[in-house]
Amino acid sequence: MNDDPHDWHADTRVLHGDSGLSDDTSVVAPIHYSATFRARDAGEFADMATRARHPAYYTRYGNPVHERVAAIIAGLEGTETALLTASGMGAISTTVLALVSAGDHVVAQTRHYMSTAKLFDEVLPRFGVQATLVEQSDVEALRAAIRPNTKLIMLETPANPTLVLTDLQAVAAMARERGILTIVDNTFASPLNQQPHALGIDIVVHSATKLLGGHHDITAGAVCCSNALAEKIWRMHITLGAVLSPMDAWLLLRGLRTLAVRIERINASALALARWLEQQPQVERVHYPGLESHPQHALAQRQMKGGGPVIAFAVRGGFEATSRFVGALHLATHAVSLGGVESLIVHTAAMWSGTMNEAQMKAAGIPPNFVRYSVGLEHPDDLKKDLARALAQALPEHTR
Ligand SMILES: Cc1ncc(COP(=O)(O)O)c(C=O)c1O
Repeated sequence: MNDDPHDWHADTRVLHGDSGLSDDTSVVAPIHYSATFRARDAGEFADMATRARHPAYYTRYGNPVHERVAAIIAGLEGTETALLTASGMGAISTTVLALVSAGDHVVAQTRHYMSTAKLFDEVLPRFGVQATLVEQSDVEALRAAIRPNTKLIMLETPANPTLVLTDLQAVAAMARERGILTIVDNTFASPLNQQPHALGIDIVVHSATKLLGGHHDITAGAVCCSNALAEKIWRMHITLGAVLSPMDAWLLLRGLRTLAVRIERINASALALARWLEQQPQVERVHYPGLESHPQHALAQRQMKGGGPVIAFAVRGGFEATSRFVGALHLATHAVSLGGVESLIVHTAAMWSGTMNEAQMKAAGIPPNFVRYSVGLEHPDDLKKDLARALAQALPEHTR
C-alpha cells in the first residue's frame, strides 16, 4: 500500500487530503466559528500578525476550516496551494485585480460567465486596463491579440452557452513563452474532469458554489496556484474582503467529501441524456463535450476526462415553445446555477428577455430556443421520462 498522498486517487484525496492539519480528535472537522484567534504570548502574536496567510489569526486573513478545504482543492487541481473566497466572482475579481495595473492589457474570451465579462468590459477599463476579447476556439486569434503589455490571458472552458472549448495546452505554451500569466475558470468541468495546471496553466479559479460545494446551498470560490502567486492574490483578498464564512467553508468541506462519486454519476447520466436528447424529434441540436457530434470532441477527449453536468440544447420552435417545455418539467428545477445534487434548467433567452429584444439576443449569440440543463443525481431514467413528457407536451407538432 502506498501512503504518499501525492499518489492518492481523487476519491481518497477528498476524504483525507486535509488530514494532519489539525490535532483535533473529532472525526468530522470542527467549525471554527470565530472572527479572531487568541495568541498564547507576545511572540506568537507577532508571528500571527505578520505571517502571510496565517490560518488562525483573523478570519478575513484565514481560518482553520479554509485551510482544510484549500488543502483538498489544491490537491485535486495539482497546485501548491489554494485560496478561498466568498463566491466565484470573489475569486475571479480578486485574482485579476491582484495581477494587473493601469496600462496593462488582458486577453479574454468573447464568451465568459456574464459577471466575468462585465469585469473586462466595464470595470477594468475604468482603471486603465484594456481587454481584447477573442473567439476562444481559435488559438491563432488568441495569439494575434497579444500585445507587448499583455499581462494575463483569461480562459473559461467549457464556456457558456454552447460549451465551446479552449485548447489549454496550446494557449498555456504560447503564454509561457512570452511570460504572460494564464487563468482558467474550471467551474463547468471540476478538477476531476479537467486539470488545467497539468496542461501548463498558472491559476485555476472556481465558483465552488457549483460542483465543488455540490448542494446548491452555499456561494463560495477558490483560486488554485503557486504559493508565490497565492500570497500576492491574498494581499488583494484581505483588502477587497470577499471572505468565505467559516460555516460556508465547512459546508464546502462536507460537499467535497462526496465530489468524486457525484462527478462519476453526473458524467455518466449527462452523457447518456445528451445521447438520448440527440435522438429526439423535438430537439434541434445538442451541445455536450462528451458527444462525438461536439465540434471539438477530439480536444474534449484530449483535455477532459468527462463531460461534466451541463448539457445545452435547442428545442424546435421558438421562445414560447421553449418556455412551455421548461415549465412542463417536474424533476429539473427551473433555476440558475449548476453542478448540484438537484437537476436545474434555465431558458437562456428568458434570463435576458427583460433587457434585450430578440435581435439583440441573436447578436449576442443567445438563440430564443436554447436551454441549459444541469444534470444532478436523480436516476437518469427518471430524468429521461421527465424530459420526454415535457417535450411531447410542449411540442406536440414535433412529436412522432
Ligand atoms: C463559469 C462560472 N464562473 C463563475 C461564476 C460565478 O460564481 P459565483 O456565483 O459563485 O460568484 C459562475 C456562476 O454561475 C459560473 O458559471
